This record gives sequence, C-alpha cells and structure tokens, in this order.
Amino acid sequence: MTEESKVVLITGGASGIGWATANEFASRGWCVTIGDIDLSAAQRRAAEHPGKILALALDVIDRKAVTEAFAASLRHWGRLDALVNNAGIQRHAHLESLTFENWSAVLDVNLHGSFHCLQAAAQTMLPQGAGAIVNVASVAATRGAPGRAAYAVSKAAILSLTRTAAVEWSERGLRVNAVAPGYVETDLLKTAVAEGRVNIEPIIARTPTRRLAEPREIAKSIYFLCSDDASYVTGHTLHVDGGFDADYGVPFSLPKSAGFQ
Ligand code: NAI
Repeated sequence: MTEESKVVLITGGASGIGWATANEFASRGWCVTIGDIDLSAAQRRAAEHPGKILALALDVIDRKAVTEAFAASLRHWGRLDALVNNAGIQRHAHLESLTFENWSAVLDVNLHGSFHCLQAAAQTMLPQGAGAIVNVASVAATRGAPGRAAYAVSKAAILSLTRTAAVEWSERGLRVNAVAPGYVETDLLKTAVAEGRVNIEPIIARTPTRRLAEPREIAKSIYFLCSDDASYVTGHTLHVDGGFDADYGVPFSLPKSAGFQ
C-alpha cells in the first residue's frame, strides 16, 4: 500500500490545525475525511480539493454519530489508515467558579470525543492489523494552566490514553501517538484573544522562538506520525511548541551585588 492511496479521518477538520492537517494529507495524495460539527464550513473546505476530501457532519460527543460517520467514511473510501483526534474546545474560568456544565463540556469533546473516535477507528484498524492514530494534546497537558483547569485535565488524560492505547495495540499493528502544540494562530486562540480571555504578549515572551506557531507547522508533525516514516514510533508525545516545554521559565540572571556582570 503506497502512502498515496491511504485514507485519514480528521475530527474538527474544518478549521485551524484540523484544516491545515487535511491540506497536508491531501497535498501528499491521501484521501481525507473531515468530520466537523460545522458541516457547511467543512463542505466549503472540501470544495478546495475536489474529489480528495469528504466532508461529514460529526459531533464527537455523540457516540452514535461517531459510529455513523466512520461507517460513511469507510463506505466512501473503502478503507481507513489513520485517525487524527483533533476536535477540541476551551472554557476559561477561575477554578473556584468553573461550572460543572463547562467542566463537562470540555471533557466531553476533548476526552470522551477522542475516546469514541479512537474506539471507532480501532473497529476497522484492529482487524486489518494496521493503522495510525494521532491525538492532539497541548502544552497545557503537563503543567498547571491557570483559568483552564478542564482543558488541562482533558489534555493530560489524552496523553495517558495515548500511552495506554499504544501499549495495548502495538502488537496488533496500531501506532498511537500525541502531538502537543504550543500556542497556534487559529480561530480558537484568536477568539480567546478577541474576547480578552488570553493576553498574547506574555505568551510570545514565554515561548523561546518568540512567535506563535502556524497551523501547518503542527500539521506536518501530525502527518509525520501517521506516515510510514514513523513506523517505529508509538506511545510518544511530540512537542511542537517552539521550545515552550523545554524552557525552565526563569531567565538567566546573576545578582550584580554578588559581583557578577
Ligand atoms: P479551532 O477552534 O480553530 O478548530 C476546532 C474545530 O473543531 C472547528 O472546526 C470546530 O467546528 C470543531 N469542533 C468543535 N467541537 C466539535 C465537536 N464536538 N465535534 C466535532 N468537531 C468539533 O481550534 P484549533 O486551534 O485548530 O484546535 C484544534 C486542536 O488543537 C484542539 O484539540 C485544541 O485543543 C488543540 N490545540 C490548539 C492550540 C492553539 O493554540 N490553537 C494549542 C494546543 C492545542
């Protein structure tokens, strides 16, 4: 099987990182299904690559809809080689005032939605003894993230799910990895900035590259992990974050009083 005739399903593929990832796979000859809660946006996107992208309505929190979307994709393309669990949302609030409704909404999409899709993909991948899954996490998965408790918890759980799925399924031919982006210039971030929920300057100052990521920079790493070039990579989290995770966070400076220059 050449890379060119393979099929990937990308959740939340109508926007941001998901759409950049769809573009990356399509430009490399893959057939792509984008499943998104916003069907009209997904259809507009799919029209940019006639015959190469199938747009489906998909709410990842709806287990029945997930089953139906995977079946529709399989009927259309005849195979499934990769899944990108990308759909994700945020709700900002101080922990003491975070409502259970918002906590649940984030966990439902980011974690439970990924779980539903992971299981749906495995229905096809385990019997065929091959497949690659990439879960989109975040740098927030491994740190305390003020104002984003539900989001950070959901992404931490995604890393745990990634490792367990990789270990359980590797003998049966599946690889499961995660990508942990830093801050990426997408609608998710732009909306948070526009609504005053995120202040961009300290983020850029905190990122060693001193800039945000472009969605295609995340997409290329996702593609790599799904491709045969990553055939011995599983259970791994690839940080695509401009050095954010590596940074100790405290600038180097020595006290002048101690005689240091
Ligand atoms: P975005 O908001 O630009 O796109 C998200 C897409 O998911 C949209 O097309 C939306 O319609 C779709 N979606 C939302 N809820 C859905 C549901 N229940 N079912 C199906 N589709 C749904 O977001 P962005 O920035 O591209 O984020 C993609 C992923 O990357 C998310 O998992 C996010 O947590 C993660 N991420 C984003 C970062 C950033 O700085 N933008 C940083 C780190 C991680």
